[in-house]
Amino acid sequence: MIDHVVVHPDAESLAAGAAARLVTALIDAQSVRDLVHVALTGGGIGTAVMAAVLAEPAHEGLDLDRIHWWWSDERFVPAGDAQRNDTAARAAMLDALAPPDGTVHPMPALEDGLSPEAAAARYAQELARYAEAGADAPLFDVMLLGLGPDAHVASLFPGHAAALADGPAVLAVHDAPKPPPTRLSFASRMLHQQARHVWLLASGQEKAKAAHTAVRSTKVVPAQPVSVVQGTEETLLLADVQAAPWYGG
Ligand code: 6PG
Repeated sequence: MIDHVVVHPDAESLAAGAAARLVTALIDAQSVRDLVHVALTGGGIGTAVMAAVLAEPAHEGLDLDRIHWWWSDERFVPAGDAQRNDTAARAAMLDALAPPDGTVHPMPALEDGLSPEAAAARYAQELARYAEAGADAPLFDVMLLGLGPDAHVASLFPGHAAALADGPAVLAVHDAPKPPPTRLSFASRMLHQQARHVWLLASGQEKAKAAHTAVRSTKVVPAQPVSVVQGTEETLLLADVQAAPWYGG
């Protein structure tokens, strides 16, 4: 459930604004916590935000030894494949930041020889290593989420079986309506109060309907993944004007 909508004049200023917000949130978090956890997203605007982090001078203040980078979903294709969200994130931001070994946690790739189910279980185990007592995943400081034109978030598609799955933190997703059909994704419950700040990113007029659905969702309906999205402290829709023509301030 979205608390606030922030509308930028265009995609470029949306990316720059979200990047500045991200850098500030991480610097704030690292001043009060030892380890800081970020869940990255794929998609056009999510990748633009990561590129904009490098253009934000304050990123020099990030203590990369203490920031862990994760993904909320991934396409289950070989490592390095251009379709992978981690490939885009590395090219846009991570290769330039060069965080230390052990702080980047890509979801397993196809050639690791694992089934999607085993890959999902392996990522769930990795998350559990950083969980606080009584939890099976870290409480993320920031979770960035792209938004599909069909209102999918992570690789949870409206009405699709994976959106309804109850149980493990990470799921193998089969027959996704958007290619590639096999994916790994945070389960729905991970999008709900598993991060302090959850920021849904929407750019372009093809996202207007989905973004409006997100803002109008007032109760959790598992078949509509965007209604599940909620941070423990803040849930924002960060949009450009094209994605929020319905916004009246
Ligand atoms: C995917 C992504 C997804 C993405 C949105 C937005 O595989 O589809 O992981 O969550 O972030 O679909 O993507 P665009 O910004 O490219 O439209």
